[in-house]
Amino acid sequence: MDIGIEKIGFYTPKNYIDIVELAKARNQEPDKFTIGIGQSKQAVPAEYEDAVTMAAEAAEQILSDNRTDIGLVIVGTESSVDESKASALFLMDLLNLPEDARAFEIKEACYGATAGVQMAYNFIANNPDKKALVIASDIARYGINTPGEVTQGAGAVAMLISNQPEILKLENKSVYMSCNVGDFWRPTFSKTAFARGKFSNQIYIEFFQTLWEKYQAKYQATAEDFKAMLFHIPYTKMGAKAMRTLEGNIPDATYAELKNQYQESIKFGREVGNLYTGSLYLGLLSYLINSDVKAGEELLLFSYGSGAVGELYSAKVAKNFKDNLNSEEIKQTLEQRQQISIADYEKIFSKSIKNGEKVDPAEVTGKFYLSEIKENERLYSKK
Ligand code: COA
Repeated sequence: MDIGIEKIGFYTPKNYIDIVELAKARNQEPDKFTIGIGQSKQAVPAEYEDAVTMAAEAAEQILSDNRTDIGLVIVGTESSVDESKASALFLMDLLNLPEDARAFEIKEACYGATAGVQMAYNFIANNPDKKALVIASDIARYGINTPGEVTQGAGAVAMLISNQPEILKLENKSVYMSCNVGDFWRPTFSKTAFARGKFSNQIYIEFFQTLWEKYQAKYQATAEDFKAMLFHIPYTKMGAKAMRTLEGNIPDATYAELKNQYQESIKFGREVGNLYTGSLYLGLLSYLINSDVKAGEELLLFSYGSGAVGELYSAKVAKNFKDNLNSEEIKQTLEQRQQISIADYEKIFSKSIKNGEKVDPAEVTGKFYLSEIKENERLYSKK
């Protein structure tokens, strides 16, 4: 039985800042941010947006009227809104999902959604009449005037996994590794992450190299087997650095072609910033929409979550994948955003809805929003 991604939805907040403006405000060379880091714009979530509302926005795009066959709901996030209750539970009524389902959250930095995808694969293998909804949703925050600030962002990618892989067939070929590493963490008291940025880059690259060795050995694979290698992209330079480790180790023409293909996978991420666990999957979406990839071609996906877990797995592009992607809507989502000033971004950054406060629905631009915090409980609404 074929199993894989049937549909993909994407959401990012309406507001963004321009990275050149950010560089100027931080007395940095704009080229450092646009070339050295490789970003153009950064999404800025509104006060009433969080991992739950963005997950709902992305998922709503791919759910049909009949939702009774959804048997698994997983939210991969490291921007959780509650230490106990899973984000996935808030989605049950927001998205009108059936109670005959397992719904929970997975946390492992930027790896969470990949854990969800792999779990969904096994679930569908055991329950072919069901579908699984896997959503990556995060707000990447390092703080104003920190080295990581340029690598912030926000958004969600939702994937419907089923035995009708109209977009991507998962091949059940995968290698993975986990080690206790102090490259990035966010203690429960903090809204912003702490990172040893350069150390994190180093571990990410080492994981890619180790996993690529393992993958080649396990499956007798070569780089020529793949049309593209897709990477977890916290910022677009990051995947390029991992890719560079292949130079001289694979044929020059293959390396040049993989580098070209990589450019197509980073187009959307450049416009949005870091999605944490959604970054790999936004890269996939960008690649499928912008590249010349054809049905039947193989992709290799590198997932990395600080802390750290890495996984390298392959997938095959489905026959009618183009017809099953909401390409125009996704491009419009990116085009119809609004630039805000650095001063406004800083104000939004420091604001949050407090216990006892309500949100005026007239201010809300999307469909789903945090409407109130009452007795310290977050209450969500749909417009
Ligand atoms: N023109 C072009 N490139 C320039 C430049 C200029 N004027 N000035 C600097 N650069 C380049 C540097 O050479 C460097 O390139 P390299 O990484 O290829 O060596 C890059 O810009 C970044 O410069 P650097 O001095 O290393 O930046 P930094 O000390 O501000 O830190 C990060 C950059 C990425 C480490 C920092 O933003 C960070 O910690 N981010 C969060 C880490 C993260 O995302 N972790 C998760 C990984 S999975």
